[in-house]
Amino acid sequence: MSNYNPHDKLFQQARHAGFRARSVFKLAELDQKFALLKGAYQVLDLGAAPGSWSQYLSQKLVPQGKIISIDLQTIKPIAQNVIAIQADITDHTTLQQILQSHGWEIVDLIVSDLSPKTSGIKYADNLKSVELNQAVVNLAQQYLKPTGKLVMKVFPGTSLDGFIKQLKSVFRQVHVARTQASRASSKEVYLVCQK
Ligand SMILES: C[S@@+](CC[C@H](N)C(=O)[O-])C[C@H]1O[C@@H](n2cnc3c(N)ncnc32)[C@H](O)[C@@H]1O
Repeated sequence: MSNYNPHDKLFQQARHAGFRARSVFKLAELDQKFALLKGAYQVLDLGAAPGSWSQYLSQKLVPQGKIISIDLQTIKPIAQNVIAIQADITDHTTLQQILQSHGWEIVDLIVSDLSPKTSGIKYADNLKSVELNQAVVNLAQQYLKPTGKLVMKVFPGTSLDGFIKQLKSVFRQVHVARTQASRASSKEVYLVCQK
């Protein structure tokens, strides 16, 4: 399981329940608050490794539902309704090929827990975050169905206000949510957007 810390309560709970990462509790909280899976059949999980969000989605989705889970890293097989693929989500052509090869034109829900690999150089790391955020918005604009939902993790920096403004020009509703399961030291927030 990722973020190994045997003294972390949520880590222990996640391991106990068979989840691959404690971050599953963040998605569970957001789902409880925003009913993310209501009416969802086709779900895209971006930055999915090791796979706890996909495990959660796999269990909660309607029986006919499917999840395509993408990460730079290998994702070990999860369940029959999860298609796990190793790819870079910023590679637009590859993403298009992946969706096309599974006959997907639009999706009901996109969840993104993407975290860039940081270098410690603030400027470069901010740029990477912005690039990932932008790639997610582009994917949502292209593939999210008109009533679809997008959940994405962002790390607040100077550009968060501007980014939210941009999202509000695309989505009818943009909620900024912090999850209790986020580590106290983490600056991450989740944006829950609905067209
Ligand atoms: C915090 S982890 C996700 C944890 C996951 N939600 C779970 O519950 O198991 C963030 C992931 O984003 C992935 N990532 C970062 N940049 C990416 C990119 N350009 N394309 C695909 N995945 C990326 C990383 O490889 C990493 O596995």
